[in-house]
Amino acid sequence: MQDASTLFDLSGKVILVTGATRGIGLACAELLASQGATLIISSRKQDACDAVAAQLTTDVSSNSKGNKAIGMACHLGEIDQIQQLWKDIEERFGQIDVVLNNGATNPHFGPIYDTDLAAFQKTCDVNIRGYFYMCSLASKLMAKNGGGSIINVASVNGVIPGLYQGIYSITKAAVISMTKAFAKECSGMKVRVNAILPGATDTKFASALIQNEAILQSLLTHVPMNRVAKPSEMAGTVLYLASEASSYTTGACINVDGGYLTV
Ligand SMILES: NC(=O)c1ccc[n+]([C@@H]2O[C@H](COP(=O)([O-])OP(=O)(O)OC[C@H]3O[C@@H](n4cnc5c(N)ncnc54)[C@H](OP(=O)(O)O)[C@@H]3O)[C@@H](O)[C@H]2O)c1
Repeated sequence: MQDASTLFDLSGKVILVTGATRGIGLACAELLASQGATLIISSRKQDACDAVAAQLTTDVSSNSKGNKAIGMACHLGEIDQIQQLWKDIEERFGQIDVVLNNGATNPHFGPIYDTDLAAFQKTCDVNIRGYFYMCSLASKLMAKNGGGSIINVASVNGVIPGLYQGIYSITKAAVISMTKAFAKECSGMKVRVNAILPGATDTKFASALIQNEAILQSLLTHVPMNRVAKPSEMAGTVLYLASEASSYTTGACINVDGGYLTV
């Protein structure tokens, strides 16, 4: 019989979270660390990564789990930085068990037809090429060590394009498709690949929408639960996908959206 107390245990696992210095990534990193994993905290700024890693290490050791966190900066739009990140991970740990591809960008808010090519390129570089290359390098290192779990943070906007978030929405649709493609081709390597589709979540990323009362009220008319999410409300689904609890789940794209996509 399965034991619910160990089903979500991540002791001995090495987990990389990108965009882990605030918002959804930070909330997920905190929960994953609390289950015994060693966390690699990544974003563009080394200082911010180190600060979160130090805090997580303190929090976790006070719970006597004995694990730790370290910071490794990486700009997801820069190929050479992604290559360096994976070289460092392999040298330092020799393994990776879970990757949460979470860091993303959305530089253009406005009509899709007015998106300039530089903003288009930047959004694609980080949100598509960055996610693709991370999935590619992660799956190969996981395969060397008997498998693992990749979790991509997509968005409800990948299903229904967000108004004035056209290119961003296109990239999130690509993340959903990428998740299924990697899931199909990596299952033989014992690598599971899944995605979460957050709805509007109270973070810096969404502040332009959420802090504008008119936009917020208009948005909430489409959300059956009639509220935005807290970042921590994404973390439970991520823990499920990271752990043995989801051992037969791959290619799943799970809505965590207060019902937005169901109506
Ligand atoms: N908030 C929402 O309503 C919502 C809804 C659906 C999906 N999402 C998705 O959720 C994910 C996390 O967003 P969030 O709302 O938690 O945003 P957030 O609070 O603004 O956090 C974004 C994180 O990503 C990092 N980051 C930004 N650009 C990066 C880059 N080029 N390379 C590496 N790291 C980068 C940031 O750190 P630095 O700036 O220091 O690099 C930060 O740690 C994103 O994939 C977003 O698309 C969010």
